[in-house]
Amino acid sequence: MSVRPLFITIEGIDGAGKSTHLAAIQAQLTQAGARVCATREPGGTPLAESLREQVLRSAMDPLTEALLVFAARRDHVLNVIRPALACGEVVLSDRFADASFAYQGGGRGVAWRQLEVLEDWACEGLRPGLTLWFDLDPAEAARRRARAREADRFEAEDLAFFERVRGGYARRQAADPGRFAVIDAGLSVDEVAAQVRQALVDRGW
Ligand code: TYD
Repeated sequence: MSVRPLFITIEGIDGAGKSTHLAAIQAQLTQAGARVCATREPGGTPLAESLREQVLRSAMDPLTEALLVFAARRDHVLNVIRPALACGEVVLSDRFADASFAYQGGGRGVAWRQLEVLEDWACEGLRPGLTLWFDLDPAEAARRRARAREADRFEAEDLAFFERVRGGYARRQAADPGRFAVIDAGLSVDEVAAQVRQALVDRGW
């Protein structure tokens, strides 16, 4: 029998609808008996949240951006994720390392190999057991974003950027398909919620 994944991440391009489904995912895990530690990246600790502010607001070169998101991640892994897992909690993170491969790698063109080194350093082998990837056509995501909020440094990028980000996620998924549940985020909110529910049920939740 396969073991329930205890470290679960949610990924997707901006506008794919992760936030809409976060509370329901957390509720399903809780109902199935989990104590859930819900967190996010970049962020999740005071230091990582301050790095998030810099990364979302300040212009910088792509490798600097990658170093900062992985520095934030290391602080998050050491001070929140590992301790929570050690206490038997289920960690639900809104983004994790795949986002760096997608955004800094695919989007900004930082070399995959450099990101893999940073991942080894920062995460020390910690990988999610399940990644819910909200996959959406970047043109549709842009239409949804236009209806929502003021754009940060990433959200202000053009369609070609988000095509590359999506390609980055696809490359990560192809390298480790068993870890990913690909959610068709182009469907209605109810249909997406049903896919997410089913993905968790399929993994024992
Ligand atoms: P997001 O998770 O979409 O939060 P919100 O819904 O509050 O906007 O925003 C985080 C942004 O940071 C998103 O545009 C992707 C980007 N990001 C990276 O570029 N690299 C990373 O490693 C992570 C975790 C996020």
